[in-house]
Amino acid sequence: MYRNKTCGELRIEDLNREVTLAGWVQKIRRMGGMIFVDLRDRYGITQLIFNQEINPELCDKASKLGREWVIQVKGKVMERSNKNKNLPSGDIEINVLDFTVLNSADTPPFTIEDDTDGGDDLRMKYRYLDLRRNIVRQNLELRHQLAFETRRYLDSHHFMEVETPVLIGSTPEGARDFLVPSRMNPGEFYALPQSPQTLKQLLMVSGFDRYFQIVKCFRDEDLRADRQPEFTQIDCEMSFIEQEDILLMFEGLIKHLFKAVKGIDLPDFPRMTYADAMSRYGSDKPDTRFAMQLTEIKDLTVGKGFGVFDSSEYIGAICAAGCAAYTRKQLDELTEFVKRPQIGAKGLIYVRCESDGNYKSSVDKFYAPDDLGRWAARCQAKPGDLLLILCGETEKTQKQLCELRLEMASRLELKDKNTFNCLWVIDFPLLEKDEELGRYFAKHHPFTSPKPEDIPLLTTDPGLVRANAYDIVINGVEIGGGSIRIHNSDLQKKMFQVLGFTEEKAQSQFGFLMNAFKFGAPPHGGIAFGLDRLVAIFAGLDSIRDCIAFPKNNSGRDVMFGAPSVVEQAQLDELHLLSTYKK
Ligand code: AMO
Repeated sequence: MYRNKTCGELRIEDLNREVTLAGWVQKIRRMGGMIFVDLRDRYGITQLIFNQEINPELCDKASKLGREWVIQVKGKVMERSNKNKNLPSGDIEINVLDFTVLNSADTPPFTIEDDTDGGDDLRMKYRYLDLRRNIVRQNLELRHQLAFETRRYLDSHHFMEVETPVLIGSTPEGARDFLVPSRMNPGEFYALPQSPQTLKQLLMVSGFDRYFQIVKCFRDEDLRADRQPEFTQIDCEMSFIEQEDILLMFEGLIKHLFKAVKGIDLPDFPRMTYADAMSRYGSDKPDTRFAMQLTEIKDLTVGKGFGVFDSSEYIGAICAAGCAAYTRKQLDELTEFVKRPQIGAKGLIYVRCESDGNYKSSVDKFYAPDDLGRWAARCQAKPGDLLLILCGETEKTQKQLCELRLEMASRLELKDKNTFNCLWVIDFPLLEKDEELGRYFAKHHPFTSPKPEDIPLLTTDPGLVRANAYDIVINGVEIGGGSIRIHNSDLQKKMFQVLGFTEEKAQSQFGFLMNAFKFGAPPHGGIAFGLDRLVAIFAGLDSIRDCIAFPKNNSGRDVMFGAPSVVEQAQLDELHLLSTYKK
């Protein structure tokens, strides 16, 4: 037996017990005639002690140990004279009677400590060593726990986990596909699923009724802190349900996870329409941990000779509490922030609501204090607050105000990682128009059902059609999204028409689904959660990379594998591929 105890479990109650431990040497310290070694395994750290006077031979052997060597020790549990309150096993140490080196180790390229000296790139290259660090391993333990509790909840509600294929056909709607050439079918390609969307709908046609799968999805998109090219969904689908059934079932899942994993009882989730979310927060994933809502003030500004406002479709303000004393430099920084190309505002207007009741603004030339007072009153600003105002096209400006709101929240430290504000955003528009291409795209996906009362608008004004679609948002992060599906092939055909698909294109890409619907498709709908994002929220992480065992870096590379990589021409020949790419 390699061990009969782990490095995390021994306590003062185990005094004098003879134990065998195995693990990695984390740290070695010499003090007088003593050698102290921190022995680490997945469960914790236990201090080992070697005494020169009592056992000089063993002490000599221990002095040759190096960091990250793998050893097995036999020894006796003793009370520590110098207790370590920060370690659960900090009251005891092991007086080593004998030990065996199971493996020596090269010096690791960075310290395996919570506060490591390794930079991002180095840690990614040696990710298996990075994973030895407590804080990284804990994120993966949390991930396991969340996946496990998800299975427990869904199983208890009669959901059945079904695996769907990873090599499927390409459906270029949505993000870009990852393609896989077929050796046996020259010139033809599989695609890796962006999600098992169509497959789970087929399972409903098969009568599976309640399906789920914790499943890898692949999207060839640009990376961000909350986006990886391969990520994991908790993918779910149900039959014979309406939107309300789905919202209740999956609100239940999130509540269960918070209770089981964090011991938190969440209140019922508020519901907000997409239109409301956009006008109040400038975002379809509002962070509701703090107020600072958008307030439209256009009607209070017109006709005072300020052309920029007079010609703007929308003028909106946020009220930054207690920021009236912001310096010129701070205001310039905010102006630079909103003018960054990613945000794209032309400028920023401010009103200081001074503590003596006066107003000072960057548009004093056009507006009297009474005017500014009316703006402040609409925004419920108090003396000492600062109004920040942007203007332009409605949706664009609302989104810019959203960015400014989030920036101010960071500066004012309002994003408390221990507060969890969950909400449903509902009534999404069914379609989104690409003005450049002059065509509509499905906002969610082409199988999302319009609200029955809006179906006539599909012919007259498709942009106004609302969908039976919903997102779940926690602290400003889209954690999951889904919809009630179209289960009628005529309506599905109509949808493809609106999306500009010819009959042939619709048949070639989605014929399998439309044909299946002819054989008795039940009313159905579902949702998928981003497991990585959920873990990141639970762990308070800024990037989902930190809860993925082997993530890709910002250029989509796995620096440990060195993937993607160039392959031999012979391998390409077998796949009937010509390499035209030259480095
Ligand atoms: P959707 O595209 O909204 O819906 O995806 C569902 C959830 O998956 C997560 N997610 C991602 N996480 C990390 N990296 C990514 N690149 C990434 N892309 C998406 C998000 C998102 O809310 N088939 C539909 C669901 C349905 O209708 O049932 C779908 O995939 O948390």
